[in-house]
Amino acid sequence: MGHNTGGLPSNLLITGASQLLTLRGRVPRRGKALSELGIVKNGAVLIRDGMIAAVGSRADIESLPEARTAEKLDVGGRVVLPGFVDSHTHLIHAASRAEEYELKIAGASYEEIARKGGGIPNSVKKLRAATANALKKRAHRALQEFAAHGTTTLEAKSGYGLDLASELKILRLQRELNQEQPLEIVSTFLGAHVVPAEYRTKPEGTERYIALLTETLIPDVAAEKLAEFCDVFCDRGAFSRKDSKRILEAGKKSGMLPRIHAEQLTRTGATQLAVQLGAASCDHLEQVNKADIRALGKSNTVATLLPGCDFHLGLKKYAPARELIAAGAIVALATDYNPGTSPTMSMPMILSLACTQLRMSPAEAIAAATINAACSLARDSRIGALEVGKQADIAVFEVDDYREIPYYFGVNKCWMTLKRGRPVFQKAHT
Ligand code: NIG
Ligand code: FE
Repeated sequence: MGHNTGGLPSNLLITGASQLLTLRGRVPRRGKALSELGIVKNGAVLIRDGMIAAVGSRADIESLPEARTAEKLDVGGRVVLPGFVDSHTHLIHAASRAEEYELKIAGASYEEIARKGGGIPNSVKKLRAATANALKKRAHRALQEFAAHGTTTLEAKSGYGLDLASELKILRLQRELNQEQPLEIVSTFLGAHVVPAEYRTKPEGTERYIALLTETLIPDVAAEKLAEFCDVFCDRGAFSRKDSKRILEAGKKSGMLPRIHAEQLTRTGATQLAVQLGAASCDHLEQVNKADIRALGKSNTVATLLPGCDFHLGLKKYAPARELIAAGAIVALATDYNPGTSPTMSMPMILSLACTQLRMSPAEAIAAATINAACSLARDSRIGALEVGKQADIAVFEVDDYREIPYYFGVNKCWMTLKRGRPVFQKAHT
């Protein structure tokens, strides 16, 4: 497996795509439009300075004068699509929680484990003790895995620090990583992941931690421009709907758009709050009711589904994707890469789960993982589709037909990933 395979020149002509999925057209994709992939058979893409200069059939693109002088990359009949946009990850953490995985298999629930000092507090303890260097090294390796599975942009949340120094450490690392390696990282402040252990034992501990968040952490993060979004884990054992509102409003006041972990373990009304606040995204949604689905259907808040969590935790109740799509919600998919509920960097695996467990079609899953996810990160004008003027963020899969991307599960069929026209992953010759 090769990484940072380095410099192709500024003009690149990609040909030989058996199917080129452009995802051109309507943004965002709702209802029936979610399955529109804008497929060009025997397609080609011309890239100039990392941007898409032309896209269409091989014959049309090859006849352009600029195409003749460009470097050529023939993908040999493989499938070409926009790089995946993974719009929900907890990229920076110190270690896996494999020990909890074993406990869960033996019957302990996610919440029981958290109450006994496992769960998020366990990751917080480890992160606070870790050096920035060790965290960065681990994140670098994870980013290479993301690239190897076709992801070109990812959102990353803080939230395993939960004190000023540790939260800033995470967000500053994210900023450095964004500058030092090719994948684009979009930062979200998740100081409201849970109330940290040292506040749980204090009288009025939750109230005091919320004061720390709204009066210190949010303004400091905003002053350093360390995050575009502010997120809250609104659930039993984390933050109430009322407290989530206060935190997200403080974030908004500091210029950070709301995102929210909603209705994952219990229904709290977080979805209605998300819609009311005009949140960019409302994520998880396993426990939504009919009114929540209707509200999302009428809103511009993206419904981000994270089936990796239910799969990893062995839960049977997945989010009602079909009902959300029927109601007109903007459905997106993401890995939720994190050590407690979804330890995967593989968007193709998420697509497989979306198809078999959420009953989304392969086409719907691909649109949800590209253009709609780009929408949730307010980047749909730049990424998520292969159209003239957008970034040449591209994944090439070693399949004949796009439906085979989710069809093969647990094996990596990604053959090449390009970010702004440059290869960031290339499968080794076998
Ligand atoms: O998205 N739900 C809250 N946060 C993560 C889990 C984090 C953890 O268990 O470490 C999630 O599932
Ligand atoms: Fe999450």
